[in-house]
Amino acid sequence: MQARKIKEGIYWVGAVDWDRRMFDDLVPLPDGTSYNAFLIQGSEKTALIDTVDNAMSHVLLERLNQLGTKHIDYIITNHAEQDHSGTLPQIIERYPEARVVCTPKCKEMLIDMSLMPQDSFQIVEDGATLSLGDRTLEFIHASWVHWPETMLTYLREDEILFPCDLFGSHLATTDLYVTDEGRAYEAAKRYYAEIMMPFRKNIQKHLKKIEGYKISIIAPSHGPMYNRPEFILDSYQDWVFNEPKNIVVLPYISMHGTTREMVNYLVDALTERGVTVEQFNLAVTDIGKLAMSLVDAATIVIGSPTVLTGAHPKVVYATYLANALRPKVKFVSIIGSYGWGGKMVQQLADLIPALKVEIFDPVVVKGYPADKDFEALDKLAAIIADKHKEHGLV
Ligand code: FEO
Repeated sequence: MQARKIKEGIYWVGAVDWDRRMFDDLVPLPDGTSYNAFLIQGSEKTALIDTVDNAMSHVLLERLNQLGTKHIDYIITNHAEQDHSGTLPQIIERYPEARVVCTPKCKEMLIDMSLMPQDSFQIVEDGATLSLGDRTLEFIHASWVHWPETMLTYLREDEILFPCDLFGSHLATTDLYVTDEGRAYEAAKRYYAEIMMPFRKNIQKHLKKIEGYKISIIAPSHGPMYNRPEFILDSYQDWVFNEPKNIVVLPYISMHGTTREMVNYLVDALTERGVTVEQFNLAVTDIGKLAMSLVDAATIVIGSPTVLTGAHPKVVYATYLANALRPKVKFVSIIGSYGWGGKMVQQLADLIPALKVEIFDPVVVKGYPADKDFEALDKLAAIIADKHKEHGLV
């Protein structure tokens, strides 16, 4: 377990978790993840930036051993979440002289989470600096990416930004830097969709704040580092600021084939009108893929049968998730079917209060769709295509 040298006096001392498949019992991790931590040796002081998940604390401790680390002055804690703060107690036990450097909110949260005693902290305000001798750390408060206490750390002389979760990706790899931008784009977009997208407005402010910094390397707390920072900065610019694209996301469930028939018809009708459709059968889909599609979609059409008087539970879950992720979607509609009655449409509409959208008339049929129902689907497709054109999304 060798530390990895980034440059003289700067080392990656994190842990790669190849086997983890779920985060928070919510987010699928098809490619594992990593918890990145960095040791910065200045001419006078030494700082550790972040720690690792408690399950892999031995890896961080061994890498520090291997570097012969006898003394740590500062543990820069950018973020209180346990996957980065989980090894703080062991680090403090081994290096009792170290001060935990963090935002005031982060201190409060670490104490609440019982990770740290009161007297271990050195609070830093936004824009504060800390000298390591020939190296200087600058702290940039960045609340709500994705917790309220987060900060980014900038290593001035080396032009390295340590943004913790921001710009991260759940990607286990032996590569220190991104080597395959296609793969990295997928992983970073998935991460953005699942973790960061609900905080898009806050991220807009933070991106503007770091515009003035000269950055040669971005070293997030998950996934490989970026030695071509514009790759991830440009991607975030698109995801966070740009208008959505000419895309309909269509998550659905069909119990007896009726809703699927309607989905197939609508997909064809939209395709004929030049709209891209990303269709997700919620019985088999990876929820992370659905989240990724929501990053760019202008419209969501939810498809559901009626079961126990309401929408199918898997559709309820996907709709709840779409609302929580707050994508920049502009339009929503609902299609589906029922046998004898129910409140499926109202139930789904009530689940999306956070989406500031125009809702198009739903198409919900009794039994198997008749000609008039297919006409209604044609009409819905035409409305969607026209609205996308009207908003300049085509
Ligand atoms: Fe990677 Fe928000 O923790």
